Amino acid sequence: MKLNIAVLPGDGIGSEVTSQAVKVLKAIASEFNHNFKFTNADVGAIAIDKYNNPLPEKTLDLCRSTDAILFGAIGHPKYDNDPSAKVRPEQGLLRLRKELGLFANIRPVQAYEALLDKSPLKKHIIKGTDISIYRELTGGIYFGEKQLSKDGNVASDLCEYSRKEIERIAHLAFKAAQMRKHKVTLIDKANVLETSRLWRKVVAEIAEDYKDVILDFLFVDNAAMQMILNPKQFDVILTENMFGDIISDEASVIGGSIGLLASASIGEKYAMFEPIHGSFPQATGKGIANPVASILSAAMLLEHFGLFSEAELIRLGVDKSLKLNISTPDINTKYDNVTTGKVGEFIEDFINNPSDTNMNFTNIHLGQSTII
Ligand code: IPM
Ligand code: MG
Repeated sequence: MKLNIAVLPGDGIGSEVTSQAVKVLKAIASEFNHNFKFTNADVGAIAIDKYNNPLPEKTLDLCRSTDAILFGAIGHPKYDNDPSAKVRPEQGLLRLRKELGLFANIRPVQAYEALLDKSPLKKHIIKGTDISIYRELTGGIYFGEKQLSKDGNVASDLCEYSRKEIERIAHLAFKAAQMRKHKVTLIDKANVLETSRLWRKVVAEIAEDYKDVILDFLFVDNAAMQMILNPKQFDVILTENMFGDIISDEASVIGGSIGLLASASIGEKYAMFEPIHGSFPQATGKGIANPVASILSAAMLLEHFGLFSEAELIRLGVDKSLKLNISTPDINTKYDNVTTGKVGEFIEDFINNPSDTNMNFTNIHLGQSTII
């Protein structure tokens, strides 16, 4: 298959982790005889520095002309600590999502066998957890009108949703549930918010078309508690933009590290694949950022184009790296010298030689090999 992929590393650790994902995709292309072409472009703080625009037109044009986008991370502390900044890196990502119509953000969360002891949550609570979060991505409070009074003392953000915006992602969530454990949980705040009541009404109507799927409702405050009390109760979670942002960071604790969580942002025409983590400025350039979220985002990209065996091989490589502790310090208590690049190389090598022995892999990648 021929695929043109736009690579938008963005800020902080973005370039370190996306370059591992690209490495892995190149290995897949050569093993399976695909033709993947990668083109890089700037977005975020780095684009503000260069062009005074977090999403330069050139980047947007590239995204519109490619088959898929691999996104790194966005954000820089100099903007986080300056509430008066008019131009912010995050605007680049939000505009990109909006311009490309990426309304559905799919965030899979699972408890990896090899990492059950690494989560701060008890093993018996998280073991077997497998959740797919469907977060609405182009509406709600993120995109509603923003106001600040002239004297700077009153501010507001409008939260707005239309029936159409709810319907299109709800259908995707129900269809996903049909392929999984046949349950959708809608997370909202319908006891307080009008938008949430519209979500409940519309989603309940749509549920009529999916008789084989159970629809459940949870208020977001309760859902936040349930997520760490009993995460196994969830199959597909459907929720609006802001609640999805918050609940997915919380859910990442189940996996053991936010550095493991991948996502796909899908629209009618375009698709973008991005880790859920941020730009982790403190780690930039140190080789300690976990590239697995970016590598698994690349696997989701392949699945999007029906390349399931290819994606599966990446997942097997990730599993093996976790089992052998070929992992960055966020989840590695055994070795302290496994860098971002080593994890990428290990998975790349696994793709090239899936049947090689564990021992060789471990030794080679820890630099202890007597063979090379
Ligand atoms: C995410 C991030 C973004 C969001 C930020 C960087 C704007 O937190 O993708 O979860 O809030 O959507
Ligand atoms: Mg977030």
